[in-house]
Amino acid sequence: LEGLRDSFLGQSLAVERVSARVKSRQGGWGEATKPLVLVFAGPSGTGKTELAKQIASVIHGESVEHLMASKRFVSIPMGQYKDKRSADTLVGPAVGIEGTGQLTGALLAAPDAVVLLDEFEKAHPEAISDVLLSAFEDNGGFKDTKLDKYVPTSRATFIINTNVGSDIVLQQRERIQERSDKLTAKDPLVVQIDQQFQQLLKDLPSSINPFGRAEFRGRVDEWVMFYPYSQSQIGDVARLALQQRVLSYYLHSAPPSRRLAIGWDPRVINLLASKYGGTDGSEGFRPMLKGVDSMHDRLRE
Ligand SMILES: Nc1ncnc2c1ncn2[C@@H]1O[C@H](COP(=O)(O)OP(=O)(O)OP(=O)(O)O)[C@@H](O)[C@H]1O
Ligand SMILES: [Mg+2]
Repeated sequence: LEGLRDSFLGQSLAVERVSARVKSRQGGWGEATKPLVLVFAGPSGTGKTELAKQIASVIHGESVEHLMASKRFVSIPMGQYKDKRSADTLVGPAVGIEGTGQLTGALLAAPDAVVLLDEFEKAHPEAISDVLLSAFEDNGGFKDTKLDKYVPTSRATFIINTNVGSDIVLQQRERIQERSDKLTAKDPLVVQIDQQFQQLLKDLPSSINPFGRAEFRGRVDEWVMFYPYSQSQIGDVARLALQQRVLSYYLHSAPPSRRLAIGWDPRVINLLASKYGGTDGSEGFRPMLKGVDSMHDRLRE
């Protein structure tokens, strides 16, 4: 998708899969009757939340800050719904409280919202799968228990973020890192990872994760696995992070007419990558971004 490649690095397989889905939906005949349901799986810090935001921005053609303000990008931490009673507040306010449910309220306000269901595995599996099964199906929706009103979901996009399956890609980390962005969807390694992931989902008891239910899996349009980053991609994000920080510094302090060219000595990037690249890939870009921030703070001082 246009615009995505500048600020979202790597994860080309994930980007490809998501782009194809979003494009075919945008170019579809007539109105969609089913919400788009995507699952973003993989280790922490590998860009799942970041890609969800960027996708929302591409779908609606507005910055994610604007979308959050106008409630067309909504992020719901699913750890809030650890039991049946709290899960009911997705579709209606808690007893004695005015208002609407979290999800029904969001979709009443913006029927075409992009809804991120974050840390999905932390929610009560059976309670949320009942609510979401009806929301994800063809001509789906849910009934707000307080308003007694049916809220359709067909124009919405749901993105489920989860760490389920992380071990599969972390075990293959070295093979993935060797080839990083040269991996294609047809590569035997990618095919094998996809198969292992689908098998893992099938084997999950539905009392532990809604993905264990075949009808739940059947409503997902695309499974997107996020891979650990290679050392050179970690270097790229260091470059991007430095760039963003220096640019924001100049935008605030230098006359706007000034033209800038910014470059980095490769030794700086290599040093950062070896210092903050992480050893096992299980934290993605986070250690690097923290490292760049602390360096930036010290330089500013
Ligand atoms: N491909 C990428 N391009 C640019 N920035 C990225 C990319 N991946 C991650 N980042 C940055 O790294 C940080 C961590 O990424 P993000 O929050 O998306 O991870 P996550 O996969 O959602 O992790 P978790 O499972 O812990 O929620 C963010 O600040 C994000 O902006
Ligand atoms: Mg996240």
